[in-house]
Amino acid sequence: MKIIKVNLKEKSYDIIISDGTITGSAGIIKKSGLGNYAYIITHRSIKDRYGRLLEKTLKKNGIDFKFKLLPETEKTKSIHTAIRVIEDIVKTGKSKKIFLVAFGGGVIGDLTGFVASIYKRGIPYIQVPTTLLAQVDASIGGKTAVDLKEAKNIIGAFYQPRLVLSDISLLQSLDARQMRAGLAEIIKYGIIKDKILFDFLAQNRKNILAKNKKALEFIIARSSSIKARIVEKDEKEEKGLRTILNFGHTFAHAIESGSGYRKYNHGEAVAIGMVCALEMSHRLKILDKHKLEKATTLIRSYGLPIKIKGVALKDILTPLYYDKKFIGKRTRFVLVKDIGRAVTKENIPIPLARRIIADRFK
Ligand code: GLY
Repeated sequence: MKIIKVNLKEKSYDIIISDGTITGSAGIIKKSGLGNYAYIITHRSIKDRYGRLLEKTLKKNGIDFKFKLLPETEKTKSIHTAIRVIEDIVKTGKSKKIFLVAFGGGVIGDLTGFVASIYKRGIPYIQVPTTLLAQVDASIGGKTAVDLKEAKNIIGAFYQPRLVLSDISLLQSLDARQMRAGLAEIIKYGIIKDKILFDFLAQNRKNILAKNKKALEFIIARSSSIKARIVEKDEKEEKGLRTILNFGHTFAHAIESGSGYRKYNHGEAVAIGMVCALEMSHRLKILDKHKLEKATTLIRSYGLPIKIKGVALKDILTPLYYDKKFIGKRTRFVLVKDIGRAVTKENIPIPLARRIIADRFK
């Protein structure tokens, strides 16, 4: 078991990572005084598969609960769903000390955190991420949001969870594509911040893809800890430090949006986006060719895409111009100097980004 503390003064919390974290977790919940009624937001498939694990520990610790089932689609992350959920909490939660449980992937985590942040001006919530992607990224750091049809994540707040329970045993049911999506973000942590993690990923690919629990615990803990340290220094992304977590994401968002969020999942788009950002680092002469190739080889070796197919170039370029991470008309990209060393650079000419994307079609 690994316990990683996110130090944010009175908002500090633990990330608990192990094979079987959920079993016995209600004891921890009870001790931390979060409440006596767990309102668990999830999908039917997750409840059917793993709901009993939560039920058992909650019952044993005398915590009452309810499962709220939401459809398994990005559309669930809407303001309308948030309001419907709050109406249900109002009915359910009378005279109870309620806390929310986000039991699912990024969609459930973002929506639940958002609801927790606005219901009665903020109630406690915990994250129980069920995908590798959510375990290493979305469940940590308190970015909560819902989408509008005009833009993703456009309504939201920074609102930290009170506990993150990452249970490796839940990953056994993920398919290879979902695993790879999480691995793309883990590779990202290696490239931007952690040469040891990068080397571990290169040397233990078979074990990781075979879901060896020790190997998974290592890479999840390492990634969670990097994210925790960055969030501690720049919780609200005001100092330009948290920005490095967006390595590859400017390109990725353009690729996802340009393909109507259908062709590539987030991790796959991040994989291609990272290759674009590595290329840009090389063309701007801050990353040498050998390291560019080493990082690209690692991404490809995990079965992640490094080329763009089945999307029109023009559809990717339009969202790139409107990236919300750009400051006014100034472009801003996260680049790398070396494996494990990211830097943020501004005023990069858009035509260079455009050429780099165009080359991904070749
Ligand atoms: N996923 C990037 C962040 O949490 O800042």
